[in-house]
Amino acid sequence: MILPRYGQHHDKIRLIDMSSKPAAPPPAPVDPAHFRRTCARFPTGVTILTVLDRQGAPHGMTASSFTSVSLSPPLVLVCVDHRATVMSHLRRAEHIGINVLSQEQHELSARFSRRGEDRFEGVDWIPGRHGVPLVPGVLASFECAVHKLVDAGDHAILIAEVLHAEHREGFPLVYFGSGYHRLDGSHK
Ligand SMILES: Cc1cc2nc3c(=O)[nH]c(=O)nc-3n(C[C@H](O)[C@H](O)[C@H](O)COP(=O)(O)O)c2cc1C
Repeated sequence: MILPRYGQHHDKIRLIDMSSKPAAPPPAPVDPAHFRRTCARFPTGVTILTVLDRQGAPHGMTASSFTSVSLSPPLVLVCVDHRATVMSHLRRAEHIGINVLSQEQHELSARFSRRGEDRFEGVDWIPGRHGVPLVPGVLASFECAVHKLVDAGDHAILIAEVLHAEHREGFPLVYFGSGYHRLDGSHK
């Protein structure tokens, strides 16, 4: 007969705290405006995310959420607000372009973030190898195939595989504290 080993048996009993101590209150949710201001302490470059619609018309949106993700395969990501007008085109697109703005191109950044207008009207662009709109004069450009669109809160994470990349020497447009900056320290 195998006798119970009391020591081990008792080890498995969980002690329940019966004291009348009130449970710690759940942490207060982060205030959205405070969250936004805190995120603005992180400097980024500025890109214009571009895509063609089914009729071949170009669309674009200023995006600072660009990040490189993987070297092999070469993947990048951009986070896009579900409500952005470009979103419906991105959901159907096979290819996208990412244009990294130079420090002289802050007006393009403002233009491609304005609501309710044809952002490409009067703006030069050339089609990349896969048709995606490329903006002349940028510091770098990526021509990409859409890899995955992952919903994340009120944004979607667009992960894309880089098919072709170009860059030149120069200084980037920097976005920091909700304003444009240059790497030489001057402020726009
Ligand atoms: C510097 C800057 C960076 C931005 N970055 C993003 C971004 O990463 N993702 C995003 O969804 N919107 C971003 N926006 C906002 C969009 O450019 C745009 O204003 C927004 O999509 C509203 O336009 P729409 O709904 O008419 O497309 C940024 C705006 C600015 C000025």
